[in-house]
This record gives sequence, C-alpha cells and structure tokens, in this order.
Amino acid sequence: MDATSQRFLMCRPTYFAVDYAINPWMDPTAPVDAALAIRQWEQLRRTYLDLGHTVELIDPVPGLPDMVFAANGGTVIGDRAMAVQFRDPQRADEAPAYRAWFEAAGFEVYDPKHVNEGEGDVLLVGDHLLAGTGFRTAHPSHAQLQEVFGYPVVTLHLVDPRFYHLDTALTVLDERTVAYLPEAFSPGSRAVLRRLYPDAVRASMADAEVLGLNAVGDGRHVVLPAQATGLAAKLRDRGYQTIGVDLSELRKAGGGPKCCTLRLRQGKASQ
Ligand code: ARG
Repeated sequence: MDATSQRFLMCRPTYFAVDYAINPWMDPTAPVDAALAIRQWEQLRRTYLDLGHTVELIDPVPGLPDMVFAANGGTVIGDRAMAVQFRDPQRADEAPAYRAWFEAAGFEVYDPKHVNEGEGDVLLVGDHLLAGTGFRTAHPSHAQLQEVFGYPVVTLHLVDPRFYHLDTALTVLDERTVAYLPEAFSPGSRAVLRRLYPDAVRASMADAEVLGLNAVGDGRHVVLPAQATGLAAKLRDRGYQTIGVDLSELRKAGGGPKCCTLRLRQGKASQ
C-alpha cells in the first residue's frame, strides 16, 4: 500500500484545559496535566514529521482551551475551505481564528449557514464526503457541503453521545475503505456503510471507548491511540502499519489524534 504525503494543520495546546463539559468525556472537576498534554501533542506532531508529512501551525488563542482540536476548524478540499460554526458558545470564537488562517493561507473561504464542526463531522473517502449529524453538525449543512465541494455527501446519523463527532466513530483508512463502530450509527446509516464499504474494518466497543477510531491514515500508516490495541491488530492484519500515540490528557476533553489534525490537502474541489 502506498502512503500519500499529507499536509496537516495543528494547534499547540498551550491553553488546553477542561473548564466546561460539552461532551460526556469532559469532567471539569477531574485534574488535567497541561504540560503532559503539550508533550503528548508534540509527540503526535513529531510522528507526522517522521512519516514525511507537513505540519502547519495555527497560533493558539488564550481562553479557547479546545482550540487544539484543529479538525473542528474547517473542511478543506483542494483550494476551498469551508469555515465552521460551533454548536456550543464556549467554542464559538475558534471559528473566526481558523477562518482567518484559511484566508491568510490563500484558500477560497466559504461561510457555513448552519452548525458545522468541520472535519470532526466531515470526512472525504475517495469520491464521497461522509457527513455526520445527530450531535453537532446540523443536517442542513450537509447540503451546503455538497454545493461548496461538488462531492456527493452521504449523511450518517450518530446515535451514541460518547461518539458525538463522526471522527470518533469512523476512520478513513484509504480512498476505498474505512474502519468504524457500527453501534455508533443508526440502523439506516449502518446499512449505508455496509453497502459502501463491504470490506470495512469493524471496531469493537473497547477500541472505540479509548477513542481508537479517532485515527489518521495516509493510505499505508495509521496513527491511532496506543490504547486501541485490538483495532491496531485488525489493521495490521489488513496490511496497514500502525503507530500508537498516547494522548491520554487530550482524551479528557474527548479528543484523540484525528481531532488534533486538520487535513489541508485532499481530493479536488469541483470545477
Ligand atoms: N472538547 C471538544 C468538543 O467537545 C473535543 C473536540 C474533538 N474533536 C473532534 N474532531 N472529535 O468539542
């Protein structure tokens, strides 16, 4: 399997904290080791660089503890970037910060008309854009994604609040297939996933509960939480090379490797 070199956007967790709870993983009364969070994030960045990927950085903003989760900063395909609109007021001010970064980097920026949490809920697999809804990204925003990017959008309904973003329940492995937790999806969405990806890797609840599906693939390697040992073994059986990273501190906010990573180069926008 060939690895495709990637260009990612990341945000150092300089101001990381768990000060509020907007998903079931977050407990503001539990201790968080902010220095450890930064070291773990540095290790993730180093892992990408060692794989030959490019990592761009956006400046963290004081008072925005979740800004480390760059996947929620936008959806980027080709030279187009769709900015985001967060469901929760605590994250609202991240949207203009990411928007400004896309503009400065030369992307053609589109503004969301509805709640849309970027690549947390929008994943490109070959010629399909998979879009999650149920907790964060609003269903009507899926139609706007299709208009902006010119890819057919496949709506997937998330049903388990622990897997509130699509990227906590499904990993893109390469242009043809994915790994996912069937229980995180409605019956109809499970049927859609079976139809589109008959060869998909089915993850277990144990792997999903350590955010194992919040992983980043480049076609050959899969960077995933080190604790997701069952999923890693399944992926190796399929010929992928797995690289475990420990993001235990960031998991206290409900995030893993994919949440910290926004893809900047993928597919081609229409026209
Ligand atoms: N605390 C953040 C939130 O609840 C975590 C975001 C994780 N990001 C992701 N792409 N799944 O919004």
